[in-house]
Amino acid sequence: MKAAQAYLAAVRNDYDFVIVNGENAAGGFGITRKQFEQLRNAGADVVTLGNHAFDQSEVMELLEETPRLLRPANYPPGTPGLGWHVFEPRGGGRIAVAQLMGRVFLDPLDDPYRAADAILEQLDDSVPIIVDFHAEATSEKKVMGFHLAGRVSAVLGTHTHVTTADEQVFKGTAYITDVGMTGVQNSSIGLAFEEVHSRFDTKLPARYRPAQGRGTVNAVAIELDGRRAVSVRRVRWEHGAEDEG
Ligand SMILES: [Fe+2]
Repeated sequence: MKAAQAYLAAVRNDYDFVIVNGENAAGGFGITRKQFEQLRNAGADVVTLGNHAFDQSEVMELLEETPRLLRPANYPPGTPGLGWHVFEPRGGGRIAVAQLMGRVFLDPLDDPYRAADAILEQLDDSVPIIVDFHAEATSEKKVMGFHLAGRVSAVLGTHTHVTTADEQVFKGTAYITDVGMTGVQNSSIGLAFEEVHSRFDTKLPARYRPAQGRGTVNAVAIELDGRRAVSVRRVRWEHGAEDEG
């Protein structure tokens, strides 16, 4: 959270629109009103969730209050909140953001590919659309990239917490398998090693805690021309490194 806020404060004015995946903002498990407001105040236009969407009970109320917090669109009909929405970026115009969740090694939700098609049917062709595909399996994410290539502005993978080096623009669609996490990199995807190691090693329960240390931001910067992506660039920024000269 500290790294994300510091980075957004430093670069906010360089971008027309900022999307943050915030499903681990509450010490790894979901998001509370406090963290949602901190991210919004730092400059996030939209915060997306994922498989930890409902870890914190406060999120139910928040999802009903604001379209700027999105949960995966392929949850069952009737789930609180929105899975996609159209916003106005700083430079004017419109931009749609959608979140979908994969089904490999995750909850068996509705088909994310058909859910993506259903969203596109409701949007006119000129609206840029950024898809956050929150999924574990690389192949499932790559196939979503293929499914939506030429039809959306970007398919950005989240959830594994580890940045992949496969960013590309294909048929005008920016793609990366995983954006990676903002957090302490010397960790088990954000959690302190000891308890995770103990659980793998002994099979006994242990309460996870967030790793301590300096946070690193992982992100991607995308340039659009209408709905088409022109470029996608990985961003890696270490909190505090600028103070050390
Ligand atoms: Fe996740």
